[in-house]
Amino acid sequence: MSGHAGVHAGGRVAGGAPATRLSVNGRPVEVRAPGGRRLLDVLRVDLGLTGTKEGCGEGECGACAVILDGRAVNACLVPLCQAAGREVLTVEGLAVDGRLDALQSAMLAAGGVQCGICTPGLLVTARAFLDARASGQPVTDAGIREAIAGNLCRCTGYVRVVDAIRLAADGRTSPMAAPAATRDGPGPGWVPVGGVDTTIAGATTDTAEGGAALDADPDAVSPSTLDDALALLAAGGLRPLAGGTDVLVERMARTATDAGYLDLSRLPDLRGIDLEDGALVLGAATTFGELRRSPLVADVAPVLATMAAHVGAAQVQERATIGGNIATASPAGDSLPVLLALDAAIVVLGPRGERTVPAASFFPAYRRTALAPDELIISVRVPRVDGRTAVFRKVARRRAQAISVVSIAVAWQVDEGRWHDVRVALGAVAPTPIRTRATERVLEGGTPGEALAGRAADALAGEIAPIDDVRSTAAYRRAVAGRILHRIVVDAARR
Ligand SMILES: Cc1cc2nc3c(=O)[nH]c(=O)nc-3n(C[C@H](O)[C@H](O)[C@H](O)COP(=O)(O)OP(=O)(O)OC[C@H]3O[C@@H](n4cnc5c(N)ncnc54)[C@H](O)[C@@H]3O)c2cc1C
Ligand code: FES
Ligand code: FES
Repeated sequence: MSGHAGVHAGGRVAGGAPATRLSVNGRPVEVRAPGGRRLLDVLRVDLGLTGTKEGCGEGECGACAVILDGRAVNACLVPLCQAAGREVLTVEGLAVDGRLDALQSAMLAAGGVQCGICTPGLLVTARAFLDARASGQPVTDAGIREAIAGNLCRCTGYVRVVDAIRLAADGRTSPMAAPAATRDGPGPGWVPVGGVDTTIAGATTDTAEGGAALDADPDAVSPSTLDDALALLAAGGLRPLAGGTDVLVERMARTATDAGYLDLSRLPDLRGIDLEDGALVLGAATTFGELRRSPLVADVAPVLATMAAHVGAAQVQERATIGGNIATASPAGDSLPVLLALDAAIVVLGPRGERTVPAASFFPAYRRTALAPDELIISVRVPRVDGRTAVFRKVARRRAQAISVVSIAVAWQVDEGRWHDVRVALGAVAPTPIRTRATERVLEGGTPGEALAGRAADALAGEIAPIDDVRSTAAYRRAVAGRILHRIVVDAARR
């Protein structure tokens, strides 16, 4: 495979795992391990950096958070191949010259640490949050709480953690001397493999003795051209891997045993957000974090940013891509009803050429798509429609890190006070995301207000046939879907 032009595979070691180079806490590191090995295992097992903790192992708890090229991510969901050539900052890298940084000091001063298992993840997540804010931008408690919503803490109740981050943001704490274990090197809790000096420049580690709890790490190939990617896909045996937030969770749950990954993260054709021929074009590898930050999205289809803010929490949003959300085709996938409501189309490419498939016909059955096994999703096209309004609402068990119980996206235009071109799409109420055409007909030509809202809610409750499952009951889903639509229509009357 390394013979393919444009295939990034790191340096191959004869008879051994590929060598991957990255920077950890400012120091160059070379790791010999399969590209599908979790960054978390590389840090803890191969490099002895056990400050990064493992809690859930599937992106839910934030204990393993590290900063990857400036963004907080969960190291349990980052394959080594996607850390190649990038900067990783772990909790061990926060202290400077033997002094805890202002955030660490504030955490101690405010009493934000009890058992401590969540603390490294909270510290690096908060550090990424504070580093990313523009200078002078106020740090609100709501902003802090949103930033750390993916970091579970059983002990503190968060009040003191939020206090600590606010103190650090206000510059009201000064760095303090680090405890001896940090200042003088490994303390009693460290279990370095081959000694911590293996992390210094030029040194290598080999994971043959690595103690990962999972089965053998899959290999990964990282092509940098679409031609190479399609050839590798056609050859078989490799599963496309974008942000890995589904793929690595499936591996952890052992619902998938992939022998190898086709890493899509180095394909420039899958990246970027542009306006082309009257459509907003989102590269398939666009993350939800990028959707939230894009001025173009805010201008053309701000509902996409609203939706993106509801996917998982910050660390998931920085990894999860829109292409992966579409390919997974979960009926609860949050982007799907929005794409239906916006009349989006999915652009796919394979050996037979390029196809553009309307989102409305992309999801034929439960977790099935119109994608052939040898095709990749390249981009998503969202037509620009001046004067269109679109909203997204999601009901879930809690605000962050929760799969939708019901999601709903509604788009419409207004002419002389009446709605037209109405689209109503729902997630998590059927085996696939759906458009509710009967409800749309009720709304089409209507004047928003209580009367129209009531008729539309009744129509919707009669049109959907949700099921009972672990997250909710059919009766609740039907009732809540109607109530949300009612609220959307009534709110529209007040705009
Ligand atoms: C803690 C947590 C919380 C979550 N919360 C939510 C949530 O609130 N809402 C929600 O909708 N989802 C949620 N998810 C699921 C999730 O993050 C998404 O489905 C995500 O968008 C998948 O994208 P990815 O880039 O990570 O895909 P990956 O995991 O890399 O891939 C997913 C699937 O898509 C295929 N694939 C990826 N890209 C392509 C491509 N370009 N062409 C062809 N096939 C491709 C892969 O082969 C794989 O089968 C959550 C996940 C976690 C771990
Ligand atoms: S270990 Fe829980 S998010 Fe990674
Ligand atoms: S301090 Fe114990 S889990 Fe957060």
